Amino acid sequence: MKKLILLIVVALFVLNASGQKFDQLAKTPPMGWNSWNKFACNVSEQLIMRMADEMVSSGMQDAGYQYIVIDDCWAIARDENGEIIADKEHFPHGIKYLVDYIHSKGLKFGIYSCAGTKTCNGRPGGCGHEFQDARTYARWGVDYLKYDWCNTTTQNAKASYATMRDGLFTAGRPIVFSLCEWGSAKPWEWAKEVGHLWRTTGDIVDRWDAMVDILDKERDLAKYAGPGHWNDPDMLEVGNGGMTTEEYKAHFSLWCMLAAPLIAGNDLGSMSTETKEILTNGEIIALDQDTLGKQGFCCRDNGDYEIWVKKLANKEKAACLLNRSDEEKEVEVDFSMILKVNDDYWTLEPYKLDDYKVRDLWEHKEVNMVNTTIYVKIPPHSVKVYRFVKK
Ligand code: GAL
Repeated sequence: MKKLILLIVVALFVLNASGQKFDQLAKTPPMGWNSWNKFACNVSEQLIMRMADEMVSSGMQDAGYQYIVIDDCWAIARDENGEIIADKEHFPHGIKYLVDYIHSKGLKFGIYSCAGTKTCNGRPGGCGHEFQDARTYARWGVDYLKYDWCNTTTQNAKASYATMRDGLFTAGRPIVFSLCEWGSAKPWEWAKEVGHLWRTTGDIVDRWDAMVDILDKERDLAKYAGPGHWNDPDMLEVGNGGMTTEEYKAHFSLWCMLAAPLIAGNDLGSMSTETKEILTNGEIIALDQDTLGKQGFCCRDNGDYEIWVKKLANKEKAACLLNRSDEEKEVEVDFSMILKVNDDYWTLEPYKLDDYKVRDLWEHKEVNMVNTTIYVKIPPHSVKVYRFVKK
């Protein structure tokens, strides 16, 4: 009888421990840095420590960036007990040492693995080792896990990611769970119960057309995002050299309008003033980190010219005017109308422009308006971003 009761207690514990994610995490989109976009497989203990130092000294930490994430290529094999082991040549002191260093800087540590048998670069994957790896990550003090989708053959995406979620929850350390399934199994429809963010597309490329191509794919996904569960249009390319300063400003602004995770992907040690100004623009970041947690939506599409609107807390709003064309555009902007636009596309909100100031978030100044309508010049491949601030 005693045995039976014990069995029931254990069964209840196991049932309770599975099927849940840590739900107090990522209430606003996660902010941090990841090694992949700039360094790919060239990761090492030294590099990661240097990036952590730069995160602090550059002002990125003060701007809100928190997670330092090592992407693919840190792991090399499994030992005879199946324990995942780091590449000793590049991580001579092991991962725990690195985590402690990151934590000592007041930062958080993120790691990468994959739901398949191997990662995209042929390193050991998590398949069949989910609970064991989750315990290891928890023991090391990991705060964030990016989980990729290479070499998964016939695996079911929802089931595979749910297994890792259960592993993490059972291991007991609150770890942000970032799904990197590239959008093929429509994670926005099911991943809210599984993780805190999910990739919606394939990999970003450091080029204007690739960036706006991702933007187009986010159009219909706004309703799936909210505090603790975000669409992830992939990491930032700001500062990596493939776009102009204006294009990077647009990339960063649009990601903030989308309430996207802000994971920088540049060399933090060699940032130009322009790059730093973009990545640490507090007024733009505030749109991303707004506590209402609404993803922005496209309320006007004139082909080369789009208007994106994001609802903010306290009945405030942001508007981003995007010129996708190769020529400068002069547009007539009706601010009283934009302020009223609602995300159901049908109704208008009863807001009056008189109750608001309009701020230009790249110029860092209030827009001086005589009428409710003004003419604005937007350079090619660039944005103007405004915030309606309650008076
Ligand atoms: C891709 C993933 C990238 C990066 C890469 C590493 O699948 O989308 O962000 O993690 O794998 O191999």
